[in-house]
Amino acid sequence: MKTLIVYCSKTGNTRKVIESFAKGLGGEIDILNLDLTPEGWLKNYTSTFTLDVSDYNLVCFGGWVMGMRVHPFLIAYIKSCYGLEEKKVVVLLTGGTTFSKNHAYEDIIGVLNERKVNLVGFFYTPTLLGLTLNKKKLRLVEEFGRSLMKNLEKDDEV
Ligand SMILES: Cc1cc2nc3c(=O)[nH]c(=O)nc-3n(C[C@H](O)[C@H](O)[C@H](O)COP(=O)(O)O)c2cc1C
Repeated sequence: MKTLIVYCSKTGNTRKVIESFAKGLGGEIDILNLDLTPEGWLKNYTSTFTLDVSDYNLVCFGGWVMGMRVHPFLIAYIKSCYGLEEKKVVVLLTGGTTFSKNHAYEDIIGVLNERKVNLVGFFYTPTLLGLTLNKKKLRLVEEFGRSLMKNLEKDDEV
């Protein structure tokens, strides 16, 4: 199982979530951090580069909620990368509050549907700007990664 994880993180919460998830998932993983600059916060993003994801069995996207939307840098990346159609995809988002979970999901699911992906997992972690991102929450993400991998391996055996 070859996995690609693409994520963006401004203050490090999503990075921690992604690291815990990757630990649980295991296997061969390439991780790409979409670098964010302070200037970029208020601009509309378009990806300046892209990547062909055809070689990966699983593609995971990690991002955070900004102004009630999933960060546009991640959205721009999902819209423009090659080879995403029919891929197994997992999304991990962080946001300040639990209330953002549904609208963040609604936001990203539209783009994922446009790209015709096979969404096999979604995980949202509320962080309260990092104040509540404790070890317990990170263990939950790690466990999510572990059980996801077990299920994917089972599917492959069938
Ligand atoms: C400029 C800005 C806007 C934000 N807007 C929202 C929001 O609309 N809803 C929400 O739940 N959290 C919001 N947050 C909180 C972040 O989503 C949360 O702290 C997230 O975990 C940050 O991820 P990061 O540390 O990986 O950058 C915002 C944070 C910042 C800095």
